[in-house]
Amino acid sequence: MKIKTPLFIVFEGIDGAGKSTQANLLFSFCRAISPAVLLQEPTNSQYGKLLRKMLKGEIPGTRDELLDLFIKDRAYDVEHNITPSLSKGYVVIVDRYFYSTAAYQAGDGIKPSDIVRMNIERGFPVPDRVYFIDIEPAIALERIHRRSGDNKEIFETLQTLETIRKNYLSIADSTFAVIQGSLGVEDMFQEVLKDFEKHFVTG
Ligand code: TYD
Repeated sequence: MKIKTPLFIVFEGIDGAGKSTQANLLFSFCRAISPAVLLQEPTNSQYGKLLRKMLKGEIPGTRDELLDLFIKDRAYDVEHNITPSLSKGYVVIVDRYFYSTAAYQAGDGIKPSDIVRMNIERGFPVPDRVYFIDIEPAIALERIHRRSGDNKEIFETLQTLETIRKNYLSIADSTFAVIQGSLGVEDMFQEVLKDFEKHFVTG
């Protein structure tokens, strides 16, 4: 079995969709047969650290400030992590990428597709596949409550998650594989793997 490399895979979904679990499972699968890295945005850069504080509501941040910081954090990730790993022929799996910025920071006259375009114009590489874990916002919110109690982040309300999901669906193009997030962890991973093997695994 061989994976077509270099390969750039992204996982996306609203908070509580279960995408990080799926990203981890695919990473374990890939790592057994190919050099691979698993990355996450926001990163641990100075921008990422600031963003995490804003997301928790510990320090204020306007939409424009968030948008600017997510782009700066991504520029850091592309320069230091993504491009070097792709150049080495790795499988690169990223938990959230510019589709998150499009879905979460759209509004006030800026469309999700405008934000995608802005990121592509910045020269950020376009992934080979996006696994979008699609889930009903109400179910996602239940999972968030179970996981983190009252430690909620600023986007974790029903209405906000509904808007974010709609934004994601508005930018879903042919690189997107939509995975039903209502399935259990194992069944969801079988769906991801089926698609992954069809496109990127030979032998
Ligand atoms: P993450 O750590 O992936 O949270 P979770 O595991 O709960 O999905 O992401 C943190 C938050 O950052 C999440 O609410 C989505 C938000 N976010 C944006 O708003 N814009 C972005 O560009 C990115 C990468 C994340």
